[in-house]
Amino acid sequence: MTVTDRAPVREFKGYWGRVLDEDPFAAWLPYREMDPFWAEGDHVNPEGVWVLTRFDQIRELQQNPKKFSHAIRVEGDMVDPLMPSMFDPPQQLKQRSVILPLMTAAKIDPLQPKMHRVCRELLATFKDRGHCDAVSEFAQRYPIKIFGDLYGLEESRREEFRVLAETWLHDHTQQHQAWASIRQIMREELEKRREEPQDDMLNGIAHSEVDGELIPIDTAINLASTVFLGGLDTLPSNMAWTLRYLTEHPDLRHRLANDPDCISGAVEEFFRIYPVARNGARAVADIEFHGANMKAGDRVICLINLANVDSAVFEDPLTINFDRTANKHMAFSAGSHRCLGSHLARHEMGVFLQEWHKAIPDYRISDPDAISFTGGSVLAMRNLPLEWDV
Ligand code: HEM
Repeated sequence: MTVTDRAPVREFKGYWGRVLDEDPFAAWLPYREMDPFWAEGDHVNPEGVWVLTRFDQIRELQQNPKKFSHAIRVEGDMVDPLMPSMFDPPQQLKQRSVILPLMTAAKIDPLQPKMHRVCRELLATFKDRGHCDAVSEFAQRYPIKIFGDLYGLEESRREEFRVLAETWLHDHTQQHQAWASIRQIMREELEKRREEPQDDMLNGIAHSEVDGELIPIDTAINLASTVFLGGLDTLPSNMAWTLRYLTEHPDLRHRLANDPDCISGAVEEFFRIYPVARNGARAVADIEFHGANMKAGDRVICLINLANVDSAVFEDPLTINFDRTANKHMAFSAGSHRCLGSHLARHEMGVFLQEWHKAIPDYRISDPDAISFTGGSVLAMRNLPLEWDV
């Protein structure tokens, strides 16, 4: 694509669905506090994209669905777009109303004892060995055990689901196929519940009503598949980045192990510094946005990680400070698409920080060269080899 009238243009690695050998969070830091710029496309994402980095500008975009739409589709976009992620209000708000009552504090808080138990069981499988791959042996296993039960998925199907979610999120070439497979499995699960109700979240979705009518089965399938994707890869990625950071910060590790009162502050700080999901939208009409002349349909991405270290909003933004008081980070976005799973994610993260550091307070990376990352809509670590003294 040749770009002549979109400016300024900057070299920018978007990391679209690729295996990476560098840390994208670190690689993007030089763009901190820049006004919008245009990044030309590459072979994975030929379209090109506007990039936003400042907190206020990103929040403005997220809170203005009339100017920046999640619903504008272009050729090659997916069939059966994700609900509510790829819709705008008011339709999107109706879709959210199906999920909201199923993820309230009253539904999620009682899962905490189970979170503690699952963490301890997983840690016990490798603690005495003195080493593990923190991604495949812990981070990828813990959330799906909690979420799988909440959703009501059979044990035997969970790994299949996890792999499909990973493919959808990280492998551009297989995305459509993975989405079709996820939807097919959800169809079977939801139809089963319409015939015979069960006591789980999928049952809640299957029997939900919007405007006094039972929701169409295709809407139920789409919503269930979207929540499933939102819930699976985000938290594992966040835990992996967090552990990697902590290998170099013994003072913080010891505080996590010994001071339960620091946990909620720590959770917010790790979400602030490693907001693994990035989001964006398309300009609805030609618009001048903070000096950028955007054309109708132009894609805009929000580097939430940079918004969360904007010095106009956060004091000493690059330092992790468990005692930070006003922490209005945007890891879970802002506006109508605000994350529906943030309450669950916060609890899971807090329990993980406590249980891991009680069991293994000191650890280090055993082979830094073995670490690699993946881009896509979630920035993930593929592996994290850790070791500790036993
Ligand atoms: C580390 C954990 C998580 C992070 C950082 C995160 C981040 C986000 C972000 C940034 C959005 C907005 C996306 C957009 O505007 O397009 C979002 C939306 C969403 N998230 Fe999360 N999320 C996390 C965990 C979860 C979990 C555990 C679930 C479900 C169990 C979940 C379900 C959803 C859903 C369904 C949406 C779409 C909401 C809408 O479009 O109205 N997320 N999340």
